[in-house]
Amino acid sequence: MTTTKTINLTLKVWRQQGPNVKGRLDTYPAKDISTDMSFLEMLDVINEQLTLEGKDPIAFDHDCREGICGMCGTMVNGRAHGPEKGTTLCQLHMRHFSDGDTVVIEPWRSMAFKVIKDLVVDRSAFDEIIQTGGYVSVNVGGAQDANAIPVPQEAAEKAMDAAACIGCGACVASCPNASAMLFVSAKVSQLALLPQGRPEAARRALAMVRKMDEKGFGNCSNEKECEAECPKEISIVNIARLNREFFKANIFSEIP
Ligand code: SF4
Ligand code: FES
Repeated sequence: MTTTKTINLTLKVWRQQGPNVKGRLDTYPAKDISTDMSFLEMLDVINEQLTLEGKDPIAFDHDCREGICGMCGTMVNGRAHGPEKGTTLCQLHMRHFSDGDTVVIEPWRSMAFKVIKDLVVDRSAFDEIIQTGGYVSVNVGGAQDANAIPVPQEAAEKAMDAAACIGCGACVASCPNASAMLFVSAKVSQLALLPQGRPEAARRALAMVRKMDEKGFGNCSNEKECEAECPKEISIVNIARLNREFFKANIFSEIP
């Protein structure tokens, strides 16, 4: 016995030919969509139809389709990655929609994330932030004994939780200030919590926050939308840690 069911939807999709042209919402019927499909598979079906009709398919970002890479993401009915908590768009299934629904699909909105085409935005600002400090500098050589640097269990767990950030940008898209604080705080925390990350902690916090400001992201005013919409459920406790790291670096470090 199969439980597969199909639904009919009306899609309103943001179409924009390029960064400097005006966009608009276009309407497409989505017929006989299996509720077992993922949201991206549903878009694949629509694109196949558009291609067969000789029309321009909808551009959208994706890669792993397993919730790991951070490439996918759009606003779905005003929610980043759609209605399911802790779920990336690629892992969202059509069973969460009902027959007859209208689904509005838009790209991330932020001054720092310019639309490239349709639902694809330029997130290279995140790459630039990582380039300024999201790493540890080590001399290569023989592998160290695993237990050579003791790490408290609690610190290791918190660092792993922060390292779950996939850099998707949903936090920016859902924040009224278009702040990147949740992303930056996760990337600072995953290193600051571990002994290996401490030598460059002050330099990292200063450089990443400065780059974040330079790229046009807003500041945090504790709206908590980022935490609510983050598909990896990154906690805003990391933002408090970033603020402490930045404060310490400003006041006590010798780093200019
Ligand atoms: S903090 Fe969450 S929402 Fe923001 S980039 Fe990382 S995974 Fe995405
Ligand atoms: S496509 Fe990789 S996280 Fe969605």
